[in-house]
Amino acid sequence: MFALGFRCVAAGMCVAIGLAVLDAAAGPAEVAQIKSRQGKFRDMGGALKAINDELKKRTIDWDNTVAPNAQTIKDRSGYLPNWFPKGSGPESGAKTYALPAIWQNSDDFVTLGKVAQVEAAKLNQVAISKDANALKEEVEAMGKACKACHDSYRSPDYAKQNDD
Ligand code: HEC
Repeated sequence: MFALGFRCVAAGMCVAIGLAVLDAAAGPAEVAQIKSRQGKFRDMGGALKAINDELKKRTIDWDNTVAPNAQTIKDRSGYLPNWFPKGSGPESGAKTYALPAIWQNSDDFVTLGKVAQVEAAKLNQVAISKDANALKEEVEAMGKACKACHDSYRSPDYAKQNDD
């Protein structure tokens, strides 16, 4: 049901649907979601880095490196906002860099997720087109979409504790 809200862009009703689901009661499943989403985010980070590293090489391996990693980012980004049920923030007591603002501004959070999803789809198309200049531009655009969300919704402690 949240996926429905995620697909709609600006309609107030879509936001209402998103909020209703985010307000659902928290339980062990929500808390288990934290480790799971962190793993998926690491997959995305590793995939974007692999494409970026590939760009620095003389010959780009489109089939074995760019395409599968672009696919990973696209697959993961499509479900991203579903990984944040209410109760899976710092109040859970689990180690998470998710900021409470996610649940206070959930419509904005979902919009940023949607922007990332659009960029991931473009990245996937560029991977198929095998256009190196377009790939360079799209990797940058993708990185900006990730960062836009991290700037507001991921604790700055992450950057302090990790090489980000
Ligand atoms: C809509 C918001 C949003 C978008 C878009 C987003 N992220 Fe994140 N990301 C988060 C949040 C929130 C966390 C913290 C999750 C936690 O600790 O529970 C996070 C955590 C991470 C982590 C740390 C995982 C860990 O704990 O080791 C990595 C790496 C990461 N994101 C990479 C990316 C990449 C790469 C993209 C883009 C392809 C991206 N993210 C897009 C919100 C977002």
